[in-house]
Amino acid sequence: MNQPDSTENLSYDPHSRDLSPEYAYDLYQNLRSKCPVSHDDKYGGYWTLSRYEDVRAAAMDHETYSSTGGVYVPPVSDNRFPPIDYDPPEHEGFRKLIAPLTSAKAAKQMEPAIQATVDRLVDAFIDAGQVELVEALSVPVPLDVITQLYDLGPQQAQEIREYSLEFLEHASDEQGRAVIDRVCAYWVSVFEQRRAEPGDDFISELLRINEDLGVNDETLANMMFILTYAGHDSTALGLSNVLLYLAEHPEAQQRLIDDPKLIPMAIDEILRYETPLHWFPRLLTKAASLAGQQMAEGQRIILLYASANRDASVFENPDEVVIDRKPNRHLAFGAGIHSCPGMPLAKAEIRIVVQTLLDRIPGFRVAGEIERTDPLEGGGRHLGVRKLPVKW
Ligand code: HEM
Repeated sequence: MNQPDSTENLSYDPHSRDLSPEYAYDLYQNLRSKCPVSHDDKYGGYWTLSRYEDVRAAAMDHETYSSTGGVYVPPVSDNRFPPIDYDPPEHEGFRKLIAPLTSAKAAKQMEPAIQATVDRLVDAFIDAGQVELVEALSVPVPLDVITQLYDLGPQQAQEIREYSLEFLEHASDEQGRAVIDRVCAYWVSVFEQRRAEPGDDFISELLRINEDLGVNDETLANMMFILTYAGHDSTALGLSNVLLYLAEHPEAQQRLIDDPKLIPMAIDEILRYETPLHWFPRLLTKAASLAGQQMAEGQRIILLYASANRDASVFENPDEVVIDRKPNRHLAFGAGIHSCPGMPLAKAEIRIVVQTLLDRIPGFRVAGEIERTDPLEGGGRHLGVRKLPVKW
């Protein structure tokens, strides 16, 4: 394997095949210490911020660091996906539209349904004494939960998974555009059906709230695309990272069994340590200067959240999992107006899975080959696990 460049000419290439987790975190450390604001000419040119304070400050300053340039480097589509590709004032209206799904109250209300889903999935494999956890739990839990909130059935859940897998592979090439067009047409047909027969599901509620806002169906469909994709695949990645750590650390499982109050802290800490979505981009609305580098208006900036989460100036022993780390101001869910609205739901899902596994298959451990995400997956943003065989 190549080693990260040890010279001053360092830069981060999200589409590098070298980006295994070990390589990525070594590179981030080099960037933070030697070249915290680095530049690369590829993909039309972009800067990468790698230190915690710079990444957080940029995420908080949406006036200078705009989100209107799309979430991929280079951009894949002319479609703009609300709320992630919008600045104020439009951004706020889109966050209102998704609030019935993403509020802390909604996540709390979903807990019994999440528990029922997890129990049903665990029932299906518990007698076998072994299972591959990504396909058995990490993928279906968030997918079942979000499709229940939409009042869509198992067949439609399967279709959503299939298009997400296709998009994961092609997020930054031409085929990605075709997937987006097809899926957005699907959501428009769902809107038509729900207008004709409204229910008490999230989509019917969204259409009701939108009567005041007047967003057109094409834009709403783009929003459903990103909400659904983010709403299940990001959680699947995060959940798998948490389960991998626990499967490799029986002593951590025991500590959580002895003191279950630590479970939410442990989840935050593992998401800091193994950040599922490594970066998000911004566009500079005006010239800015950071760490002695002059960045011009209109240039693209990558906010390297995963690097910020290993910054020793903020996190003592950043390369270790400290289960009860406090405070833990990690950026796995971003910061500022675009910080992840799905965090309460994602954390509730991960917590319920962890509690259930510690209760029903304590001591589960890795039993077979772990498959990591492909470095190019998700436009080069994802770092996680795609196969996690365990036994107990
Ligand atoms: C462990 C799971 C998850 C992780 C690690 C995660 C991470 C993130 C991050 C880092 C951002 C910030 C993007 C930026 O800075 O531009 C974000 C935004 C977003 N996430 Fe999540 N997410 C997760 C789960 C979810 C879920 C469950 C949903 C939906 C139910 C969701 C929906 C969104 C949306 C819609 C945005 C855009 C927000 C905006 O632009 O205002 N995410 N997520």
